[in-house]
Amino acid sequence: MSKYHAVASISELGEESQIHINVNGLDLLLCKHAGKYYAIDYYCNHAFLPMEGGSMQHGLITCPYHGAEFSLADGSVQAAPAWEPLVSYPVEVKNDVITVAVK
Ligand code: FES
Repeated sequence: MSKYHAVASISELGEESQIHINVNGLDLLLCKHAGKYYAIDYYCNHAFLPMEGGSMQHGLITCPYHGAEFSLADGSVQAAPAWEPLVSYPVEVKNDVITVAVK
């Protein structure tokens, strides 16, 4: 059963920005893109390097190392060289606090 955890205030995450968070021992990348919040695995599963700093366009994030693209909404792979999806975690904003659901 997933439980929502408070991870940041909305004031900490500007438009088109990202922050590294740790929730229950999981490294996640919290992103704000086109007015929406997303939380995905912090490490790309191609070569286990950080997704942080990857460009975000049209609902996709591009790994800054070798260019794999993933959907921010569901983590699905949209371009090689990765072939496994990232995990995308549910995000909700409650009273200006960003919360992320993890098990
Ligand atoms: S580490 Fe992300 S594409 Fe290689």
